[in-house]
Amino acid sequence: MATPVCLDDFEKYAEAHLSRMAWDYFSSGSLEMTTVAENRKAFHRLRIRPTALCDVSTRDVTTTLLGERVACPIGVSPTSLQCLAHADGEEASARAAAALDVCYVQSTFSTRSVADVVAAAPTGLKWLQVFPLTDFGITERLIALAEAAGYRAIVFTVDHPAKPSNWTFSRRPVGLPPGVSIRNIEAVLPGEIDESNVYAPKPGLKPTGKLSWHVVERVRQLTKLPVILKGILTAEDARLAINHGAAAIWVSNHGGRTLDGQPAAIEALPEVVAAVGGRVEVYMDSGVRTGADVFKALALGARAVFVGRPVLWGLAYDGADGVKKVLEILREELDSTMAFGGCSSIGEIVGKLRVVHKSYYKQFVPK
Ligand SMILES: Cc1cc2nc3c(=O)[nH]c(=O)nc-3n(C[C@H](O)[C@H](O)[C@H](O)COP(=O)(O)O)c2cc1C
Repeated sequence: MATPVCLDDFEKYAEAHLSRMAWDYFSSGSLEMTTVAENRKAFHRLRIRPTALCDVSTRDVTTTLLGERVACPIGVSPTSLQCLAHADGEEASARAAAALDVCYVQSTFSTRSVADVVAAAPTGLKWLQVFPLTDFGITERLIALAEAAGYRAIVFTVDHPAKPSNWTFSRRPVGLPPGVSIRNIEAVLPGEIDESNVYAPKPGLKPTGKLSWHVVERVRQLTKLPVILKGILTAEDARLAINHGAAAIWVSNHGGRTLDGQPAAIEALPEVVAAVGGRVEVYMDSGVRTGADVFKALALGARAVFVGRPVLWGLAYDGADGVKKVLEILREELDSTMAFGGCSSIGEIVGKLRVVHKSYYKQFVPK
């Protein structure tokens, strides 16, 4: 295969080279996967209105997340079981993120522990993702480890209260190959994973559906770190999140892996941004595949975007170097989109009417 030039190329490589089980695990979504598809289609329904004759001779893609500087507003979403993509798993993806000075979010269900990741990538902004699990003690211990290891925020995933309906997993259970284990969980709870079927975990690891907004305060009480809520898609939940002390809101539909039929994250973003009214930072993921997508999300009010599957494709292609290439391509495409869109800095992207739904143009067509 020729050298990949875009994220789609990495996806094709991953599909051709990963084991069937790994490809299924990474690519699938819930039920008919309409939300997976909409995450892409919704970006295509948006149009960028360029501004001509701006000084774009130099462009600055740096920004800050919760006050910490990053080289660009593109980060790594938490995804589980990265050793299914490459033997170095999360160590490789974290190294790539640190090399490029972008934000790295480690999943609870990582095949490398917090200690492994810190040893592999001692520098770079790192956040830990946690779930509301049946055994709250697991979350508590992971947060303590991350805080002690210098992670800078906790990403609390609020859109996963049960086992999702996934036809692919029902047909072929996801097992861990020999030598792969969920070391992040082993570090706090040895012997708890059934390696032949990771979707049939022992009781303490199951997602709990016994939830209320008080769980956010419970997580906040465990840590001095800011707590970001991931998986918010409505104005109502965004307001509740702020009322319960969320430091930031992450608009996401989990890459279409949880509730099929929910909106594309980019569709839901403006509603959340309007409800938040600048009180906290808003991030988004789900379906970001090009620099133009990043530009669209920023124009609609996201402080940063994150990518999930593309990082797994990069890992499959060439470990840490593959992930670096994926993130570099996105950054370069963002930079180029800024030049042609008329923006010389990230701050200039947010703006009224820079990005519109394609239906905007209907009003000008004579009836
Ligand atoms: C294989 C896979 C595993 C994931 N594991 C987690 C996880 O452990 N925790 C979490 O909050 N989100 C998880 N996600 C969701 C991602 O964080 C992210 O929201 C999603 O992948 C973004 O969509 P994209 O893949 O289209 O970029 C996972 C996604 C994938 C594809």
